[in-house]
Amino acid sequence: METRVINMKLIFHFFAVFYALMTRTTALDTLSPNQVIRYNETIVSQQETFELGFFRPGKSSNLYVGIWYKKLPNRTVVWVANRNTPLTDTFGELTLTPDGVLILRNASMGSVIWSSANSTTMKNPIGQLLDTGNFIIYKESDVRNQESPLWQSFDTLQHTLPPGVKLGWNAVTRTERHLTSWKSEDDPAFGRFSFLIDTKGFPQLFIKEGQRITFRAGPWNGVRYTGSPNMRPNWFYNFTFVLNDIETSYEWNYVNTSVFTMLVLQPSGNIQRLLWKDDIKEWVVFTTPQIDTCDKYAVCGPFGVCNINNSPLCLCLKGFEPTSPAQWMNTNWLQGCRRSVPLDCKPGEGFKPYSNLKLPDTRGSWFNQTMTLVECQKKCLENCSCTAYTNSNISGSGSGCLLWFGDLMDTRVFSQNGDTLYIRVSASELDSIESSKSSNEERRVLISVPIAILVLVILVSLCVYYRFYKKKQHHQGTLRTESGYYQENISGNEDLELPQFDLSILLKATNNFSFDNKLGEGGFGSVYKGVLEDGQEIAVKRLAKTSTQGLLEFKNEVISISKLQHRSLVKMLGYCIVGAEKMLIYECMPNKGLDSFIFDKTRSKLLDWSTRYRIINGIARGLLYLHQDSRLRIIHRDLKVSNILLDKDLNPKISDFGMARTFGGNQIEANTNRVVGTYGYMAPEYAGDGIFSIKSDVYSFGVLVLEIVCGEKNRGFVDTKHYNNLIGHAWELHNNGRSLELVDKCLGESIIESEVIRSIHVGLLCVQRHPEDRPTMTSVILMLGSDGLLPSPKEPGFYVGKTKQDITQSSSYGTSSTNELSISMLNGR
Ligand SMILES: *[C@@H]1O[C@H](CO)[C@@H](O)[C@H](O)[C@H]1NC(C)=O
Ligand SMILES: *[C@@H]1O[C@H](CO)[C@@H](O)[C@H](O)[C@H]1NC(C)=O
Ligand SMILES: *[C@@H]1O[C@H](CO)[C@@H](O)[C@H](O)[C@H]1NC(C)=O
Ligand SMILES: *[C@@H]1O[C@H](CO)[C@@H](O)[C@H](O)[C@H]1NC(C)=O
Ligand SMILES: *[C@@H]1O[C@H](CO)[C@@H](O)[C@H](O)[C@H]1NC(C)=O
Ligand SMILES: *[C@@H]1O[C@H](CO)[C@@H](O)[C@H](O)[C@H]1NC(C)=O
Ligand SMILES: *[C@@H]1O[C@H](CO)[C@@H](O)[C@H](O)[C@H]1NC(C)=O
Ligand SMILES: *[C@@H]1O[C@H](CO)[C@@H](O)[C@H](O)[C@H]1NC(C)=O
Ligand SMILES: *[C@@H]1O[C@H](CO)[C@@H](O)[C@H](O)[C@H]1NC(C)=O
Repeated sequence: METRVINMKLIFHFFAVFYALMTRTTALDTLSPNQVIRYNETIVSQQETFELGFFRPGKSSNLYVGIWYKKLPNRTVVWVANRNTPLTDTFGELTLTPDGVLILRNASMGSVIWSSANSTTMKNPIGQLLDTGNFIIYKESDVRNQESPLWQSFDTLQHTLPPGVKLGWNAVTRTERHLTSWKSEDDPAFGRFSFLIDTKGFPQLFIKEGQRITFRAGPWNGVRYTGSPNMRPNWFYNFTFVLNDIETSYEWNYVNTSVFTMLVLQPSGNIQRLLWKDDIKEWVVFTTPQIDTCDKYAVCGPFGVCNINNSPLCLCLKGFEPTSPAQWMNTNWLQGCRRSVPLDCKPGEGFKPYSNLKLPDTRGSWFNQTMTLVECQKKCLENCSCTAYTNSNISGSGSGCLLWFGDLMDTRVFSQNGDTLYIRVSASELDSIESSKSSNEERRVLISVPIAILVLVILVSLCVYYRFYKKKQHHQGTLRTESGYYQENISGNEDLELPQFDLSILLKATNNFSFDNKLGEGGFGSVYKGVLEDGQEIAVKRLAKTSTQGLLEFKNEVISISKLQHRSLVKMLGYCIVGAEKMLIYECMPNKGLDSFIFDKTRSKLLDWSTRYRIINGIARGLLYLHQDSRLRIIHRDLKVSNILLDKDLNPKISDFGMARTFGGNQIEANTNRVVGTYGYMAPEYAGDGIFSIKSDVYSFGVLVLEIVCGEKNRGFVDTKHYNNLIGHAWELHNNGRSLELVDKCLGESIIESEVIRSIHVGLLCVQRHPEDRPTMTSVILMLGSDGLLPSPKEPGFYVGKTKQDITQSSSYGTSSTNELSISMLNGR
């Protein structure tokens, strides 16, 4: 045995020496003329950082020649030669021709399927893979030629921007370089998205899908990109932006080379700064400038401002009003806003500063980097079509001049690190600003006395009004107006007539609330099916008389909920109050609750994977609407499978807002001493301390997702080995890369593995123990809809379902089909 090994070694050694002599090379990182690299051969850079060879991307069976990180367990490809011309068999051959062209041949045909150049006249070329991941071809006789190689892979930018490489325009070489995404994880062909610097007007960074702009990182203001203030140099990389007569470019570099990091344009169109985490052996998204809905290009139309903390998202700049108020109210913001008082270009016009903004689109803008702000204002005032100005460089005390003409597009409000923009306003607008500013103190005293009297009068008349109209059947809802720039103009139309049903109608419709009409029962009362005289089917929720909710609270709840309109929310038709009876009337959902499907052995087969995935996405959108997009911020507080109803097309509708709380615009979390909800769905901080926030809903959503994927109840589930509940079990499987074992058996062939794995991953992110770790619903939707990398979930909250003792004592507990009741308990604290 031993001698055989030695013999083999000797033979191998002999061949190695022979080979080295024949090809005049001993290094593994170089490629000499006529040397051939085949399917299972590679060359490796000196420090073994990068490797070049043939690979199959993702699940594809096609072969490509590419460069990837050698040291990482998961192949991360940074460059591909034959992006659009894959090899379909294993007979490809990569060679360097004697005149310095790298070519890839189909050996079975002999045809060239990719080459680095059309022709060159170089003598004695050599190819070398550097530790930066750059493959260069240079003249062998002089190593200094490495500095300026004849050809280098870094010159053909692909989906990643390597360190020290310039993205942008060079006026000397007249070349423009940008990133292009892969088609998908499995296909490196040129995808739909590109990341580029647009040099029309003041240069800015764009992501485009074909010709359409999807995201604008904005111009460089000397300190940061105005549209992505979180993209900053830090401990492991720095970057520069150069704008002069020769070039307009962006470039980044390592500060600490002991880490791996990449700037990647994902197939989904997201630009991400990835950082390799060695402890978890995964790439994580360190920053991405595309964070929320306001980052979609020009969501609010011309002169509209997007504010993610506002609901609705879009506002008009002060002094502007919606171009089409009806559409604007319908959250169709594309037409944007127009001036309340048109400009006439007469003397007296001036500028009003707006701070903390993302600067508007600068295509068509004009700039001069030496002018001062005062000169800039003058310049803008001189030209009637100039609408706004600001410093082009805010570094130091600010310098340079940037002018906009016409519509201001794609601005948003940041809570910090925004820019100041001076927008042209008419003389009358300027007067009103001036007068409101002047002698504020004096005015306050002068005004306060009459105001006090006025308030008193209003209060008295309100009391009188209330007494008179208390018995009136119809209740006029009022809606609080949103603070912000967007004011007055529309609030008058917002009163909403809320249908109050007559008790007699409901009695008739539900056959006197007969037992046969009962659809179900929960902690807050019973639900009955009913048919109105016109044939419309309704569901009547009759709140228990013991419900502690006060009349006013109930009405407020009803009013706010009746204003919610979303595809994924059950529509409320009206309400009824008679004495202690409180009832809510909803549209009827013929397919009942989601629980009647997924927890039922036979009915669960009716929901195949694509339906379940659609349901998950639908719920996510409904919840996002509640949390963010609706006019009020609403926390559902009792999200669970039985509260998701299905319509006739199996679309999900979130129902049961009995415990929902509306939130003030800026309120983030609240505390209650009445904890309501359902065990198994309640976040730890809520069940334990009564603290609820949108993140406690996100937790419940996570539980929902896991239950939908796996068809088991979180609380009913017992993993016999670890006494974990479903969450704990899912976490365990995920950590061992066995997520797919969680899938509901009845789904069988219908599953799409990547979607299943992604859903479970997102579910686990949602149920993380600490609320601040959990994603917002905006990110949940982004994560579900993209194929980018996801962060690793941390330990979930509440993952041990029962103790061993519990199980031995009552082995059937929780697995029975007893109704899952909502609980309501008083929290001692
Ligand atoms: C290379 O591939 C050939 C056939 O595809 C195979 O026989 C050979 O063992 C492989 N060599 C190595 C080093 O993997
Ligand atoms: C990375 O590699 C490990 C083991 O090689 C594998 O379990 C894991 O799924 C891979 N991760 C990704 C994102 O491909
Ligand atoms: C390479 O040649 C084989 C055999 O003729 C052919 O089937 C295959 O499609 C070719 N591949 C490419 C990428 O041209
Ligand atoms: C080769 O020539 C063609 C046609 O002139 C051109 O389109 C292509 O870009 C050239 N390829 C390279 C690598 O220069
Ligand atoms: C980044 O930092 C490195 C090391 O600190 C420095 O040498 C380099 O000039 C910096 N590059 C840029 C683009 O700021
Ligand atoms: C670079 O990063 C490594 C790992 O995070 C750290 O240990 C090291 O101190 C850093 N070096 C410098 C010069 O910051
Ligand atoms: C920019 O402004 C300065 C000072 O006003 C002026 O001297 C210079 O010519 C201007 N440059 C351009 C390109 O307009
Ligand atoms: C105002 O600016 C626009 C756009 O730069 C330009 O086309 C127009 O000629 C200017 N008008 C005047 C009066 O300078
Ligand atoms: C911005 O201003 C700072 C300080 O005046 C200067 O150092 C920097 O070069 C300027 N940047 C650009 C892009 O002009």
